[in-house]
Amino acid sequence: MRNKALSEQVAIVTGGGTGIGRAFAVALAAAGTKVVIASRRAEVVDRTAAELNSVLGAEHVFSYGFDLLDAGQTPALVAWVLDRFGSIDLLINNSGLAIPESVVDITDGGWETVLETNVGGAMRLVRAVYPHMLSQDFGDVVNISSQAGKHGYADVPSYCASKFALLGFAESLRDDIRKRQANVRVFNFCPGLVDVDHVAENDVPRADAIHVSNMAKTLMYALSLDRDVTLEDISLYKK
Ligand SMILES: NC(=O)c1ccc[n+]([C@@H]2O[C@H](COP(=O)([O-])OP(=O)(O)OC[C@H]3O[C@@H](n4cnc5c(N)ncnc54)[C@H](OP(=O)(O)O)[C@@H]3O)[C@@H](O)[C@H]2O)c1
Repeated sequence: MRNKALSEQVAIVTGGGTGIGRAFAVALAAAGTKVVIASRRAEVVDRTAAELNSVLGAEHVFSYGFDLLDAGQTPALVAWVLDRFGSIDLLINNSGLAIPESVVDITDGGWETVLETNVGGAMRLVRAVYPHMLSQDFGDVVNISSQAGKHGYADVPSYCASKFALLGFAESLRDDIRKRQANVRVFNFCPGLVDVDHVAENDVPRADAIHVSNMAKTLMYALSLDRDVTLEDISLYKK
């Protein structure tokens, strides 16, 4: 089965300017991967890319302003990455949001925004990137679901529905991969609370949350497994 070192790979990390996505970008860029971080706030992804490249002393992180909710922007992002780097080996569907509306006061707009961002956005990216992974016979897709993709919570029903749906979509992608015997793996993260405010190496995370570095370490471990091995749903909780 074809393999490729991380130092030769090209990754897209949605929401890579902040929080968990940024921690993924740090770890991947340190391994030599070219990482495209993409989200709505261009100034945030620009700043993150500049900071990480300055620490590395090399240009490994590239920013791209992009809104998952604008359907046309996904093919444009994918075309830009392929044109510039020639490949997409790793797609990390990390962008996501929650709108706290209970089952009795949930709005159509809130529901639509959460579902479209958290699962519609991932679907559109997979739809655009997966054919390329099939044609190059190599790729990994990482989806950031949540503990809320396994359990329901009264304060965020739309978020729970979107994160369950993301896992369902990933199962269908896995089935497609199995049927084609393709060299593509799908990893889903289902974390409990991750502290995205205290992210420096020596910061102590909030008592109810894990340090974000655990997400990055787990990503790198999962990616290091043999090509015919997949860790399916990765649940990380504060013990
Ligand atoms: N932190 C936790 O406790 C936790 C636990 C379980 C799962 N998660 C999941 O982990 C992922 C990352 O969250 P985080 O905690 O790191 O929070 P975060 O820093 O708020 O990250 C969310 C990212 O999504 C991006 N985003 C939101 N809407 C977007 C859109 N329409 N188009 C493109 N990008 C968009 C945001 O960037 P822009 O605003 O610039 O667009 C932001 O960078 C999310 O999917 C979240 O649901 C988090």
